[in-house]
Amino acid sequence: MKKKLGMIGLVVSVLLMLAACGDTEKASGEEKKTLKMATSADYPPFESHDTNGDFIGFDIDLAKAIAEELGYELEITDMSFDGLISSLQADRVDFVISGMSATEDRKENVDFSMEYNRSGEMFISTKDNEYTDVDQFEGKTVGVQLGSIQEEGAEKIQDEYGFEVKKIDDAGMLIQELVTGRIDVVYLDKEVARGYMEAQDLVGFDDPTRSSPGMAIAFPKGNDLVDEVNEALEQLEEDGTIDALKEEWLTE
Ligand code: ARG
Repeated sequence: MKKKLGMIGLVVSVLLMLAACGDTEKASGEEKKTLKMATSADYPPFESHDTNGDFIGFDIDLAKAIAEELGYELEITDMSFDGLISSLQADRVDFVISGMSATEDRKENVDFSMEYNRSGEMFISTKDNEYTDVDQFEGKTVGVQLGSIQEEGAEKIQDEYGFEVKKIDDAGMLIQELVTGRIDVVYLDKEVARGYMEAQDLVGFDDPTRSSPGMAIAFPKGNDLVDEVNEALEQLEEDGTIDALKEEWLTE
């Protein structure tokens, strides 16, 4: 009986210790806070998983560099792209880095850091369906990622060019649908498209219709963290870290 009570006491005190730690962690005698980041890890070379299931990519390394610069621990959560903004609005995470373009619409719901990268869009397809222009899409199905600016962009021109838009949650699935012939075209970020074109032997052409805003880090509205992160971004730009990461992960 005595032994049992002792056991319970131990469990209770461990639980109390854990509760006391909460979000923070003792690191070399100092409190180190944890930054919670969310991303949609379906978008190489910005964010994906390696074969061990670890997060890798430009955005992941950028997040690590920012956390280190500011003295935070970093915790990354994977979710679907379409759920990122609402997780910020619900304050479930501190920020989102997910190749997210800083659009005016999104600025109504979240705050953005300075831009850290500019890309563009491409339309890609398999080799036996090579397209060179959007006016060849009549009667075709164009796949886009749910909640992306490509979804919005495709919907804007679908009537004019007479194509269907198919929205898919996961960017990797979009490519699967394309190579298995269930959709004709995928409309997505240029950097991401290039990787898939090489890996899956696909072809494509640049989007001539519009130029998208640059990518930035998103925060819950009115959060002070954005200033801290902007300072870190400036520092990482000055000391060449961002250029080195672009060199490592991106093609242009
Ligand atoms: N740049 C596009 C947007 O902001 C697509 C980003 C998709 N990112 C991702 N991790 N799947 O809408």
